Amino acid sequence: MTFREDLKTYVENINKMLEQALDIMTGYADYLVDAMRYSVVGGGKRLRPLLMQESNKLFGEPSKELPYFMAALEFIHSYSLVHDDMPCIDNDEYRRGRKTTHAVYGETTALLAGDGLLNYAFETASKAFDITDDPAKCGRAMKILAKQAGIMGMIGGQAADVKAEKTGETMTEDMLLYIHENKTAAMIESALMIGACLNGAGDKELEDLCEIGSKLGLAFQIRDDILDIEGDFEQFGKPIGSDEENGKLTYVSLYGMEKAKEDVDRLSKEALDGLKRFNKRNEFLEELVVYLIDRNK
Ligand code: IPE
Ligand code: IPE
Ligand code: MG
Ligand code: MG
Ligand code: MG
Repeated sequence: MTFREDLKTYVENINKMLEQALDIMTGYADYLVDAMRYSVVGGGKRLRPLLMQESNKLFGEPSKELPYFMAALEFIHSYSLVHDDMPCIDNDEYRRGRKTTHAVYGETTALLAGDGLLNYAFETASKAFDITDDPAKCGRAMKILAKQAGIMGMIGGQAADVKAEKTGETMTEDMLLYIHENKTAAMIESALMIGACLNGAGDKELEDLCEIGSKLGLAFQIRDDILDIEGDFEQFGKPIGSDEENGKLTYVSLYGMEKAKEDVDRLSKEALDGLKRFNKRNEFLEELVVYLIDRNK
């Protein structure tokens, strides 16, 4: 199997799992489940669950708790996108090649769908306790998930991002790194750390994966900022020029396009070197990191 074939199969499997997890009935709130499903299903790269699955393989056979945490992380990621696209944040009409959740369902439903997904993420992850032989390991994974998605992670990064944009304050290097590290890298770090944690990795290994995830996450957000300028709407699936329209200072506006591209390359290679230092090698994971350097979507 080639990398592309494996990638396709893994993404299809993740999509099936996500659809199954969202096959729920709630009575009067069913319309909200529709909006939650719309926000998750269809088109995402599924990078975070993929990274979790592959970092798990670095430490042994697939853990049975893994699917619950993979779904949880993608639910949190999806909710962050629903809220990020709303008029009060980035005000974007398209995502993954189709209308954003608020554009289809209205702002109130989009807000609640985001809330629903965030909570459902933790409900889903908590199901791992029902089937595990090692509750302490699941507790440790939960703690990572909660922290990296929260005020010390993704939400903190989004808050700093929005504040910098709305107040128009001068962006410093330190501020931009804080924003990228938290709004984007934190979730990528959590993917790698939770995968490893579920296969019993130690603190040092988790620390190393956090550092790898930080570099990969920074590279990923810089590439996103690049594609926001020179991407193709058909492939990227999101509006081109959204950052400029919002007056957002990005890695590209701070350092220029050339350095931005060099840094995506450098950071990705550093992440790759980090992965190669583990006892067990994962060829698919390494190819995934390389594939992301020049991604167009
Ligand atoms: C979008 O994430 C938000 C960023 C951190 C740049 P992805 O590029 O992973 O979005 P999907 O899930 O593939 O749509
Ligand atoms: C948002 O960054 C990252 C999140 C945590 C949602 P962006 O605002 O650049 O993401 P896109 O470009 O809308 O996907
Ligand atoms: Mg944003
Ligand atoms: Mg956005
Ligand atoms: Mg962007």
